[in-house]
Amino acid sequence: MPEQITISEAPQHVNETVKIGVWLTDKRSSGKIAFLQLRDGTAFFQGVVRKNDVSEAVFLQAKELRQETSFWVTGEIHEDARSHFGYEIQVQDIEVVGTSEDFPITPKEHGIEFLLDHRHLWLRSRRPFAIMHIRNEVIRATYEFFNQEGFIKMDPPILTGSAPEGTTELFHIDYFDHDAYLSQSGQLYEEAGAMAFGKVFSFGPTFRAEKSKTRRHLTEFWMIEPEMAFMHQDESLEIQERYVAYLVSKVIDNCGYDLKLLDRDPEDLKKFTKLPFPRISYDKAIDMLQEGGFDTKWGDDFGSPEETYLSDQFEQPVFVLNYPKSIKPFYMLPAEGRDDVYVCADLLAPEGYGEIIGGSEREVDYDKLAAAIKKAGLSQEDYQWYLDLREYGSVPHSGFGMGLERFLAWICKSDHLRETIPFPRMLNRLQP
Ligand code: 4AD
Ligand code: MG
Repeated sequence: MPEQITISEAPQHVNETVKIGVWLTDKRSSGKIAFLQLRDGTAFFQGVVRKNDVSEAVFLQAKELRQETSFWVTGEIHEDARSHFGYEIQVQDIEVVGTSEDFPITPKEHGIEFLLDHRHLWLRSRRPFAIMHIRNEVIRATYEFFNQEGFIKMDPPILTGSAPEGTTELFHIDYFDHDAYLSQSGQLYEEAGAMAFGKVFSFGPTFRAEKSKTRRHLTEFWMIEPEMAFMHQDESLEIQERYVAYLVSKVIDNCGYDLKLLDRDPEDLKKFTKLPFPRISYDKAIDMLQEGGFDTKWGDDFGSPEETYLSDQFEQPVFVLNYPKSIKPFYMLPAEGRDDVYVCADLLAPEGYGEIIGGSEREVDYDKLAAAIKKAGLSQEDYQWYLDLREYGSVPHSGFGMGLERFLAWICKSDHLRETIPFPRMLNRLQP
């Protein structure tokens, strides 16, 4: 019996006869030879069926296989320098498992709405394959990084009664006889965690009722939110840039095949592993924008054109520090000697991908935080537990949130976040 392997294991089985469970993605044949494009979820490669090497029945069967038919293929592994993968299988036998007729996603070009309507099937194609493998590596490397740095993962609730990032983008749900919301950030809970465990992080789904239909917004996305006790913002920025550089280097090291499928040159990614990342103030950013011909005024928030312009002035990701209070949430620490800005920073990705991280040092004083909660129009009662953290051994602490899909869009050079999550949720999309 030939050994059963995956396509990704083929390089260790050159000149051996093996058996692999595969699906057919495409096919080309002539009178004497058939080329089968195969996938098994671990890689894509080619099966070659020569009329002279197999029985009449196997050759006929190969020529009649339809796209997405599943089957066991038996054959010998050979090197194939012309393909991305570098190996192929010389087919000896085929044993069909599941038939397939008229698979909707043919090898021709399809429009994005058609592809999204068929996302459950589109996932089988090469681009989603590569992006989901990179997503998996980033998830793996995130756990690795924070564990190495002495963080523990602490999961915040998804069902919440509070709204840390502003009350306009909440998904309301009926929680028995009370109002509740899907979490738009785990941060406030991570702050409680930092006071209990020192350094914590969360990594989970986050929900925002974004009415904007932009390339950068999903209504459900995944966020990594670290929070560190006894830590000021400058040290938090160092963790942020080390984390981003770590993820980029792990993708370069472990996702070469996926980057090739996406036509993303690892050489272009290498410069994002160089530290430190540049830092500019919001004030300076306003000057740069005005010099660049924007009519942005001090106090304005940045949209995608402003962020793109700013990041274009730098090779690496750039931190923009100290945004005006009026455009950031209540929990941030006001800057010393500046009444109008917070100790906070956004990290803007290069190549026009915009904000990938938002973070800040947090207000530590009970009375000042209580006043900020009141000023934001929130009820002190709902936030009493959060104020308690300042009542019992309050310490300087800082944290940040990185959107997984924003990071992936940049690394995968994808022009829309919807490609970077298996089943995207947007204003007009809840299916499949
Ligand atoms: O800047 P945001 O709103 O910050 C927070 O939520 C803080 N509580 C984080 C913290 O300090 N713990 O969101 C953080 C990141 C953004 O930089 C962006 O990468 C991503 O989350 N993000 C989105 N990603 C996809 N779709 C959306 N609608 C997003 N909104 C924010
Ligand atoms: Mg932000």
